[in-house]
Amino acid sequence: MNENRSTFTGKLGFVLTAAGSAVGLGNIWRFPYLAAKYGGGIFLLVYLILAVTFGFALMSAEIALGRKTGLSAIGAFRQLDKRFTWVGVLGAIVPFIITPYYSVIGGWVTKYFFAFVSGDAKASAGDAYFTDFIARPVEPILWFCIFIGLTALVVFLGVDKGIEKVSKFMMPVLVVLTLFVAIYSMCMPGAMEGVKYYLTPDFSKFSATTVLAAMGQLFYSMSLAMGIMITYGSYMKKDVNLESAVHQIEIFDTSIAFLAGMMIIPSVFAFSGGNEEALGKGPSLMFITLPKVFDSMAGGTIIGAVFFLLVLFAALTSSISLMETLVSILQDKLHWDRKVTTGAVLIFCILLGVPSSLGFGVWSGFSVANMSILDMFDFISNSVMMPVVAFMTCLVIGWIVGTKTITDEIELTGPFKSKKLFNVVIKYIAPVCIVLILVSSVLDVLGIAKI
Ligand code: PHE
Repeated sequence: MNENRSTFTGKLGFVLTAAGSAVGLGNIWRFPYLAAKYGGGIFLLVYLILAVTFGFALMSAEIALGRKTGLSAIGAFRQLDKRFTWVGVLGAIVPFIITPYYSVIGGWVTKYFFAFVSGDAKASAGDAYFTDFIARPVEPILWFCIFIGLTALVVFLGVDKGIEKVSKFMMPVLVVLTLFVAIYSMCMPGAMEGVKYYLTPDFSKFSATTVLAAMGQLFYSMSLAMGIMITYGSYMKKDVNLESAVHQIEIFDTSIAFLAGMMIIPSVFAFSGGNEEALGKGPSLMFITLPKVFDSMAGGTIIGAVFFLLVLFAALTSSISLMETLVSILQDKLHWDRKVTTGAVLIFCILLGVPSSLGFGVWSGFSVANMSILDMFDFISNSVMMPVVAFMTCLVIGWIVGTKTITDEIELTGPFKSKKLFNVVIKYIAPVCIVLILVSSVLDVLGIAKI
């Protein structure tokens, strides 16, 4: 382990920072709408089971790999087995693709937060507000630059003085704000119907797709298979109990996703008079439906402002983890100074983010398989590259170098309680499931078949 590498000050800092990465836009808009679509309680149940088995094993493997080698993805895989350096390289490319477009969406969130604070809440409930906004050539790019500039600032300050400090502040605030909005939302007249819809399992909606959707969501939500957890693991001290840290991150991530459903589903139900369709709108839920919901609520401007602030915090801590991973990969390779590296990464992200933003306006004519530029980046990274990296990670650890390499690292602080489960998941269950996700998402996008 490199003695000069920065570290988190302790377990709390590590857990809150990793949870900061995990809790993001995925938890707040994607989870509730998937849960609503795939049978409510049954989706929750499937997700929970996958989180404590599959998610647990993969996250432990990545963090332990980072801590063992003291390196980010590329170096870590090289150290495991030179022939598989390419897996690290592939994993390292993923955040290079995601950071720019994730920050474009982060820019939208920043804009909405300011709209609510500056008294523009009513306008934001207008039908064409969102589509007009993202189609403009300059304004969304400015918000994107503000968002990514803030991200870079924190990364610039370093692991303990920037990232950990910000997470220790933002994550607890996020929990409090989420609870507040969820309770408020549940108290609205007609909201209980939504709570019932969210929590009651509808077994008729259960199918293989439910499991695949839950697994795809789990990957994204826990920031797996893109080198982030390897990088964060490399900053973890050897005396921190890794197993319990992973459990805490999972609990954090899953609870916020669950509560996001409690914020969104009851209020949308109350607003739409129990019409489930309002929930099925996917991406537009957060930027089109919710402002209308807030507009109809007593005190909606305040609740809306609080809501977008908490989404902003969630998105920021995630984009920080993405950018930190980029900086760490480049630093390991080029040995540049952190500040210079951060500057270079910032310029790269701006250059790559601009086309994603323009793809909704002046460049909307450009599309591949019916996807906008942003959706295309999202598809390549999340649906193709991440499953490949996750599959190869399981293969290299489970079959080439052996799970003992990882379990020994976890056992540095005492017995690894879920060792058997870990071995079985990494060697057998995860690789099979991952291949299924990969095949189904590719077929889905190509429009060939829906499993
Ligand atoms: N885990 C984050 C979420 O749930 C998303 C994310 C993906 C964050 C990739 C960082 C990197 O939104």
